[in-house]
Amino acid sequence: NRMNYDIETKNSNPGSEIPKPPPIKQQENFISSEDILKKCSNLSDLCESLKKFNGSNLKKTASQIVFSDGNPKAKIMLIGEAPGADEDRLGKPFVGVSGQLLDKMLDSINLNREKAYLTNIVPWRPPGNRTPTDYEIALFRPFLLKHIELVNPKIIVAVGGSAAKALLNINDGILRHRGLWKKLVVNEKLKIDIIATLHPAYLLRSPSQKKLAWEDLKLIRDKLKEL
Ligand code: URA
Repeated sequence: NRMNYDIETKNSNPGSEIPKPPPIKQQENFISSEDILKKCSNLSDLCESLKKFNGSNLKKTASQIVFSDGNPKAKIMLIGEAPGADEDRLGKPFVGVSGQLLDKMLDSINLNREKAYLTNIVPWRPPGNRTPTDYEIALFRPFLLKHIELVNPKIIVAVGGSAAKALLNINDGILRHRGLWKKLVVNEKLKIDIIATLHPAYLLRSPSQKKLAWEDLKLIRDKLKEL
């Protein structure tokens, strides 16, 4: 099994007799993400590698890759969940209704897509807009960490529960973790300040929670001022 990057196994209990799951069957010519990522030295390499990566079925049902939007030189990188129908059609993250709310949230702290960089934890639209599975999140995580390393932002915002789960090693809900600065260990040399906030799609369903998102936005605004 060449997919030997770290996937945290929750409840792993070395002494127990729980049988290990069978190794994942790999297609012929399967190239591990580790091998692929060694060769990526810039964002266009990474995007091309993701386009070629056949380790996930999501690629088969999506119409195109949704890699990123905004300014790769920005100090702040926002990371969402996965493309929806609009993003899949247009090839850019956060261009549908939640994206419009996200733009308003950014605007409220004097940010926009020239001053921020946006991506998702998963680059292909999951069919029917379902939430990415833990397996999919783990599969794309090495690509996401490489993406972060190449952009090297000063601040990361995990937008919503799935992004928080992918980046913060948490099992419980986003409401317990939002609005708290933490450190993301990207690699041995790179640690980046990260904060989780509520997803605009959630805020559209639960508008009374917007006050919490506003608290987070103010923390982000203040942190950016310190830089
Ligand atoms: N929701 C996300 O998390 N990401 C997008 O790109 C669009 C909607």
